[in-house]
Amino acid sequence: MKIIGTGSAVPEHIVDNNMLSQILDTSDEWITTRTGIQRRHIMSNEYLIDLAIEASRNAIAMSGVNPKEIDFIICSNVASNYVTPALSTIVEGAVGCECPCIDLNGACAGFIYALDYADAYFVSRGARNILVVCAEEPTRFVNWKQRENCVLFGDGAGAVVLTRGNNLLASRLRSISNKEVITYRRRLERTPYETEGVNVDEPLIMNGREVFRMAVTASQQDLMHVLEHAGVAPQDVKYYMLHQANQRIIDSIQEHMHLPQKKFPSIIAEYGNTSSASIPIMMDLMNRKGELHDGDLIALSAFGAGFVSAAALLRWAK
Ligand code: UT7
Repeated sequence: MKIIGTGSAVPEHIVDNNMLSQILDTSDEWITTRTGIQRRHIMSNEYLIDLAIEASRNAIAMSGVNPKEIDFIICSNVASNYVTPALSTIVEGAVGCECPCIDLNGACAGFIYALDYADAYFVSRGARNILVVCAEEPTRFVNWKQRENCVLFGDGAGAVVLTRGNNLLASRLRSISNKEVITYRRRLERTPYETEGVNVDEPLIMNGREVFRMAVTASQQDLMHVLEHAGVAPQDVKYYMLHQANQRIIDSIQEHMHLPQKKFPSIIAEYGNTSSASIPIMMDLMNRKGELHDGDLIALSAFGAGFVSAAALLRWAK
């Protein structure tokens, strides 16, 4: 597969750290030094599905592909207002596609999981083009009284259109079952038969320090795995596009890999952690600024609830 179009969309409402310090016992200084985040776009009156549609339309327009020639849509989403139907099916109708659709929950690693599935679908089904859209609203999972979590997140959607090609040089998907580090549970409709305590409603719970540690370790291992698999030296990669969770996580991976900071682009200051949308949003911003060129090697790496992690090595080509 290869990427021939990118798109993104974020909510209008921008909340900076000083605005958060008016409603929480926090400060711009704490958030900036611990995370690198200065601002984030937060859902107010939008629906996530509208952002998913806008990002998809932008990616399709850039690709020049007729929506009727898109043969599969994968939407990466952790949770939204729609439990069913899948967000991918709603995007399908809105952008004028007629094809199979599926949503996947690969947590913050969902974009790389989706690229890997898409690559396999090109081979197994001979697809012509595939739309991958990542749409996330993590600011609606958190308890807005828990300062350690709610300051980290932002909302948004990022999309790519893929066509046939051999530009995915290597990928690695992993999961180490551990529901203690990040959990978000929602109550379903009550039945007359349920057992007490089973049907729980609780906002996102996260052991931030443990996630930090696991993320730095997993990301380096995954990146080294894909580089070795493809026979590529770390310094030959133009950009390492990492999941935008915390600037300190990105810096730590960069330092452990002994590579220059300029190879690790970051949008965390302006967008916060937008879960699986973070890499495709950054990819779209860089692509539209003309920062990605034919032949560039780009490594992706992400991690999240599960505990899942994933990495991929791509050759950029239009
Ligand atoms: O997509 C993957 C999702 N998750 C992540 O990537 C999260 C990874 N982890 C992290 O990014 C960091 O662990 C955090 C940013 C969440 C926390 O940073 P930390 O350096 O690990 O801080 P901490 O949790 O150890 O807390 C240090 C102090 C505590 O106070 P005491 O006990 O030392 O007095 C916290 O109560 O900072 C306090 N604190 C805050 N203070 C001001 C926690 N949150 C805040 C806050 N504002 N928002």
